[in-house]
Amino acid sequence: MITLVRRIPELKKKIKQARQRRKVIGFVPTMGAFHEGHLSLMRRARRETDFLVISIFVNPLQFDPKEDLQRYPRQLKQDIALAKTAGVDLIFYPTARQMYPTGQETVLDIPSLTDHLCGRSRPTHFPGVLTVVNKLFNLVEPDISYFGQKDYQQALLIKKMAVDLNMNLKIKICPIVRERDGLALSSRNRYLSPSQRRTAPCLYRALCQARQLIKKGERSIPQIIRKMRSIINAEKKTRIDYLNIVNPSTLTDLKRITRRPVLIALAVYVGRTRLIDNILI
Ligand code: PAF
Repeated sequence: MITLVRRIPELKKKIKQARQRRKVIGFVPTMGAFHEGHLSLMRRARRETDFLVISIFVNPLQFDPKEDLQRYPRQLKQDIALAKTAGVDLIFYPTARQMYPTGQETVLDIPSLTDHLCGRSRPTHFPGVLTVVNKLFNLVEPDISYFGQKDYQQALLIKKMAVDLNMNLKIKICPIVRERDGLALSSRNRYLSPSQRRTAPCLYRALCQARQLIKKGERSIPQIIRKMRSIINAEKKTRIDYLNIVNPSTLTDLKRITRRPVLIALAVYVGRTRLIDNILI
């Protein structure tokens, strides 16, 4: 039986009941529009915890005014059906009013980590993410929460927040789920036209090229980046937002590959749709 909860007092009641029954609470925060990537997080949480809570909330605080908040896909009925197949116990589906009844003046940030990669072109995004995730953690009080590696920077920030704020929970990062042609699953993939969809795997091809070069002994990061860029620029209607090879703990740029692992991360516009992807090598 899956329970759909819209209001905070009801959520708190259900969480209290689960705690009284000594259940280990697993939590997967989402913005809905489920695909296999979300479902893989839920299945893992199902295996590892007793009471599985997910949230579906398209968080206005993490969208820049120019971004796609209104356009972001919403498909509650389908999401409920998919969540059922993954064994979810409770879906928290709050309104923006429930989450931000009096506006939100307290906003979290971790400047040393937000000022890189996606945070450069989306400066308000991660403070919005950290703030909502912190609120959701306070409400759900999970023992373990699950995030995907596709949003590597987000996951790193949330881990750091949990340490910095002495949160009593574990954060687990789960592997990227890909289409057969390598495209990382994302709710935004549905914005792609058929021809853009054919173009989109160039992100993963570029990452694979980097892996190949490093395997063959290439250590110069400008060289690797140049080759990756040429793969993406060879495709029509692509525009690179960033393409960086960084220290996976600090997200700072590297000049040469002198240590492992390194994080290779990129964001590329395919048409108007901004896609991200990464690999750890
Ligand atoms: O990754 C997402 O879907 C969102 O950023 C999250 C973590 C649910 C916060 O709104």
